[in-house]
Amino acid sequence: MIPVITIDGPSASGKGSVAERVALHLGFHYLDSGALYRLTALAARQAGVSLEQETVLQGVAQNLDVHFEAGNTWLGGHDVTTLMRSESCARDASMVAALPAVRRELLARQRAFRQSPGLVADGRDMGSVVFPDACLKVFLTAKPEIRAQRRYNQLIEKGMSASIDNLLQDIRARDARDAMRGASPLVQGEAHLLDTSDQTIDQAVRQILTWYRDCPGVRGT
Ligand code: CDP
Repeated sequence: MIPVITIDGPSASGKGSVAERVALHLGFHYLDSGALYRLTALAARQAGVSLEQETVLQGVAQNLDVHFEAGNTWLGGHDVTTLMRSESCARDASMVAALPAVRRELLARQRAFRQSPGLVADGRDMGSVVFPDACLKVFLTAKPEIRAQRRYNQLIEKGMSASIDNLLQDIRARDARDAMRGASPLVQGEAHLLDTSDQTIDQAVRQILTWYRDCPGVRGT
């Protein structure tokens, strides 16, 4: 069985950076599942599809022409690496992600990332729905104010404009939508809780690697 580590948690909790580093350390593949929801939302916007048309959006998700290469993401032949990281795209993604037909459509695409020697997957429902048999499940979180500050730094670093107050409001709204929705809501479930409010990325990575080494059947990684 190919091992999977799932890292779920709310917006801007640092899942992406932590998951990528854990994957790099173990030589595992990495799945940024949020990217698929962002890309579905982006493709829908580009096609002029409203974000409430569930059946049409399912078709958009099914026909997603996406290509990941060397840290860049291509949608229908266009480099959307920066565009897909905007806050408006994140907001659209969380609306599209509430639709059960879209989630069902993206399931097989996500599971296809499970390849030897292993996978680190980050998102909201990686441990609860997509990879329920994961050998290690982590729920990564931090206080909303800290997450807003981290997202602010990230956006500024990418040359985008941002306001902490707006970000905090957006993050709270997305947290509520992700946790309250009927389809695959964000829940801690049986996952190990990791609050990174007072932790660096490296400390979080070390903690996850320690938990992973304690998993049954894992030795000397
Ligand atoms: O960076 P942030 O955590 O805000 O967003 P993301 O991980 O890129 O995900 C964007 C949106 O996709 C989230 O607000 C979720 O609503 C949704 N999502 C989801 O529903 N399930 C996942 N496995 C991953 C993301």
